[in-house]
Amino acid sequence: MADREALVLGIETSCDETSAAVLRGERDLIGHVILSQDVHKLYGGVVPELASRAHLRVITDVVDGALAEAGAALADIAAFGVTAGPGLIGALLVGLTWAKAAAYALGRPLVPVHHMEAHLFAVELEDPAARPPFVALLVSGGHTLLLWVPEWGRYELLGETRDDAAGEAFDKVAKLLGLGYPGGPAIQRVARAGGADAHRFPRPMLASNQREGDPDYYDFSFSGLKTAVLTRVRELEAEGRLGAETAHLAAAFQATVVDVLVAKTMRAVESKRCRRVLIGGGVAASRALRDGLTRALGADGELFHPSPRLATDNGAMIARAARFRWGRGEVAGLGVTARADLPFPGLERAP
Ligand code: KG4
Ligand code: ZN
Repeated sequence: MADREALVLGIETSCDETSAAVLRGERDLIGHVILSQDVHKLYGGVVPELASRAHLRVITDVVDGALAEAGAALADIAAFGVTAGPGLIGALLVGLTWAKAAAYALGRPLVPVHHMEAHLFAVELEDPAARPPFVALLVSGGHTLLLWVPEWGRYELLGETRDDAAGEAFDKVAKLLGLGYPGGPAIQRVARAGGADAHRFPRPMLASNQREGDPDYYDFSFSGLKTAVLTRVRELEAEGRLGAETAHLAAAFQATVVDVLVAKTMRAVESKRCRRVLIGGGVAASRALRDGLTRALGADGELFHPSPRLATDNGAMIARAARFRWGRGEVAGLGVTARADLPFPGLERAP
């Protein structure tokens, strides 16, 4: 069982960051290395096979780096936490296999972690006040989830995306605009010089479904928005004005996504009568999203968000989530396998 000062090693390899962290107790991050794979920039998106190969090349050095920063040896680690899904299967296998081997060699527990649950814990790791109850908006490159969290480990699914994830929309629109990968930070940077009202895009799932109980009251959809941007890009291109309008397009697109995310989150806030909101995942690094939610929540609301470093994928959040699951005795045998579509633990659909 987890003693108060036990060291947990967290390993993350679900997508294009290879990361390892050493966590002492619940919140003392004593070693942390995050290596982002540059190779995908050449292709404008993550190439799974290249991701797996890059993880394999650096995983040992990344773990060694985190241990060195922590001033710890592998033998000092009390438990190994690792992302078991969701994510790219080949990429997940690299981290999971490494953690299994270490756990087996040292005779220590192996704790599989759900990547999206870890994005929730990233916030609590930095701010102990970020504990349930809260409404959670998890927005990453692969997922868009609106949750009600009455306590750690119990998650009520209010809404999710019907097609593209929020981060995926940023990545695809950035590609359309020739801004490179990852798209979120690039759009945020370029949008500063643009006007959010210069172009008007549809707010998907806001106009209809306005009453609680309507089928998509809490759900999201971003693929129609992406198509609307594409249509506008083609029109402007034909008119030879695309270059001049890029900043405006980025600002208008970003404002549209933020509007929808904020509106749906506020529906959950009103319905649950809880003005505590936690955001996690790569898109939680968005300044516009944080400002939009802060404004909507008002003076009596509380917004909990990760620092930019812990918003995107990292090993620290895996170590923190592993510490929680380990504390509940949830350790795995060496037969545990990675799953691209690992179910969210403790998740129930809203009645
Ligand atoms: O959580 P994350 O690192 O990886 C996944 O679990 O998918 O999220 C990555 C996503 C990418 O789609 C990236 O474009 C987006 O987060 N992102 C942002 C920002 N920073 C990263 N989206 C909007 N604004 C940002 N500032
Ligand atoms: Zn993530």
